Amino acid sequence: MLVTNREILKAAQREFYAVGAFNIQNLESLLAVTEAAAEEKSPVIVAVTPSAIRYGGLKYLSTLVRVAAENLPVPASLHLDHGEDVKTIKECIEAGFTSVMIDGSHMPFEENVALTRRVVEIAHSKGISVEGELGRLTGVEEKTVEEREAVLTDPEEAEKFVKLTGVDALAISIGTSHGAYKFKGEPKLDFERLKSIREKVDVPLVLHGASSVPRRIIEKASRYGAELSGAKGIPEDHIRKAISLGITKINIDTDLRLAFTATVREVLAENPGEFDPRKILGPAKEAMKEVAIAKMRLFGSSGKA
Ligand code: G3H
Ligand code: 13P
Ligand code: ZN
Repeated sequence: MLVTNREILKAAQREFYAVGAFNIQNLESLLAVTEAAAEEKSPVIVAVTPSAIRYGGLKYLSTLVRVAAENLPVPASLHLDHGEDVKTIKECIEAGFTSVMIDGSHMPFEENVALTRRVVEIAHSKGISVEGELGRLTGVEEKTVEEREAVLTDPEEAEKFVKLTGVDALAISIGTSHGAYKFKGEPKLDFERLKSIREKVDVPLVLHGASSVPRRIIEKASRYGAELSGAKGIPEDHIRKAISLGITKINIDTDLRLAFTATVREVLAENPGEFDPRKILGPAKEAMKEVAIAKMRLFGSSGKA
């Protein structure tokens, strides 16, 4: 059934588990995450970015996701990930998204508040929930203390931001980053910061850039020719700890992409005579589905729908 993120995340917050927001761009990635949700009896957030919309088309992607969600036996939302401007937000709401993120994290605080507030007014008038972001997701490892302070979320600003904007969920920066190269040295997240944000903010908190970049998948992709040396993600015990400290929504894109790529490489290398797209993309879909199932179990959302 198609619902908003607000409904999905309120239930998760009450019971101390997190829900995965999985990025999709095509039929295979959508089938992977929705089949995983149905099998795991897990709520699911299907996330679509502006660049996925440029790739697949708003009408095609939104129709595919809505049909999938409406036919699922578990709660599912159609969520705009990293919305950039009011125009895109309005188009997505028009196309049937049930939840939108406005990402003003690159802006000065006041501008971020003003843009997010405007999106909240538009979205709430249609019953759509809104995620805002405060703090930037750049790699923080080699930054000085001052530089880190400038990009990681400030707990007091977070409290003000939520009050001033009325967002339903807040994405924060505690040391994660997007993509497959999150750390050069030891992975490290600022859990103390997460604790103080949680104490000051009562809306669900969101962790972007949360892929774990599993060794097993990197090794498989590399065996079949991928060049991914130095790839490193967030260890699973860090994810468990983040959930225990109040993270309720966890965004995953990279781990699905890696699973897809590793399997396509394997199928093509092992079956040089194969040219049926379904025999190539089918196994890749299964590999993404395995990743989604493992995340639902790790996040504690399996069995919650
Ligand atoms: O933050 C979301 C993604 O990992 C980046 O996705 O390449 O579709 O913009 P994109
Ligand atoms: P990863 O790149 O770690 O998968 O993060 C995805 C994300 O935050 C999408 O919004
Ligand atoms: Zn993100």
